[in-house]
Amino acid sequence: MSQPTGSPADTPRPGGRLAVAALRERAPGERRVSLVPTAAAKLAPRGIDLLVEQGAGAGAWISDAEYSAAGATVLPEEQLLERADVLVTVSSPGKDLLGRLRKGQTLVGMLHPLANPRLAQELAGCGVTAISLDTLPRTLSRAQAMDALTSQANVAGYKAALIAADSFGRFFPLLITAAGTAKPAEVLVLGAGVAGLQAMGTARRLGAVVSGYDVRPETRTEIESVGARWLELRSVGPAAGEGGYARALSAEEQAAQQLELDELVTRFDVVITTAQVPGRPPPRLVTERAVGRMRPGSVLVDLGSSELGGNVEGSSPGKTVVTPGGVTIVGAGNLPSELPQAASAAFSSNVTALLVDMVSDGTLSIDLDDEVHAGVVVTHGGEVVHEAVRRLLDTSAAS
Ligand code: NAI
Repeated sequence: MSQPTGSPADTPRPGGRLAVAALRERAPGERRVSLVPTAAAKLAPRGIDLLVEQGAGAGAWISDAEYSAAGATVLPEEQLLERADVLVTVSSPGKDLLGRLRKGQTLVGMLHPLANPRLAQELAGCGVTAISLDTLPRTLSRAQAMDALTSQANVAGYKAALIAADSFGRFFPLLITAAGTAKPAEVLVLGAGVAGLQAMGTARRLGAVVSGYDVRPETRTEIESVGARWLELRSVGPAAGEGGYARALSAEEQAAQQLELDELVTRFDVVITTAQVPGRPPPRLVTERAVGRMRPGSVLVDLGSSELGGNVEGSSPGKTVVTPGGVTIVGAGNLPSELPQAASAAFSSNVTALLVDMVSDGTLSIDLDDEVHAGVVVTHGGEVVHEAVRRLLDTSAAS
């Protein structure tokens, strides 16, 4: 690696303080904020002053006065961009912001450089150091406090179960009343990663009878530990991939899985899908045929729903559709933003842990020989330094 190790990303300010700024989120409908007021006290001992853009916390019901009371400095956009050494955002910056960053500044957020390597190239071109939380090596024990993918998936899984319960026309729990006995809802969760397990646990706590399935066989004990039953699929063998993730199924395996699920999903009142394979569109688990066979009043919540497709045929991100057969399909959209206080608090803890790891005495030090730094630092010193992002850019330049 040509990059010097242990090099300061930013010149320390006089007095050895680093100005870290929480930006107001600019993505439509985004209600989270990247740093909450309690971060100010945690960052101060590392030589970090917290700046906050005016109104940044409004979507999460955090007022500018709360930030000020916690010791942060609230500033309008222009002054904030001028004074900040490090800018923190939840979502990727839009074109407008990109054009206003200056050389030597650092940007921290969920920048998705593997999905959008061109953004990395642009940030490198501007001389901005980009740090992306979604490329963190999550399994390292030191990295766990910084794991924003997990913290946000946890919120999404919880909210998915609530949306399912809210969209369903019956009770989730078994209820015995003078007016009769209500059967508990039968809920199936497909995909038992962080979001799936949280959805299972939440549906269980609401009293539903919950089943779970994943292509990674090691999830069986995790599914059972949250009080759900393991659903066995005979048609698909184990499909664990690298780094604890699933591998993509072959076309034959996928067709066999869909066929078996076509039969199985009709047994359930509610199906929540959370299946993902890194670097691929979400796998199609529930076909239109399966949806057509579900009972009227059934509910599907598709957490995999994105512009690239979803786990459920016919789902669309952020939209709810009711089929002619009376089945409600909810395309999840940005669920963490729908629980903005919880999601922001967790994201803020993740960013704080990262900054505490990288900053001392008001200086941000990047060591690309450190596994965590090499995982999250995407651009530095005017170059794209992240190996996987570089490979993607080289491949697209060659084709
Ligand atoms: P994810 O969001 O990438 O995927 C969700 C789930 O979908 C995965 O469990 C995957 O196996 C499943 N899936 C993929 N294709 C499927 C298909 N065709 N049918 C059914 N299920 C399918 O996963 P997430 O939540 O990001 O976690 C992935 C892994 O990372 C897990 O092993 C998790 O335990 C591990 N992890 C480890 C951490 C740690 O060590 N601290 C922290 C976070 C995650």
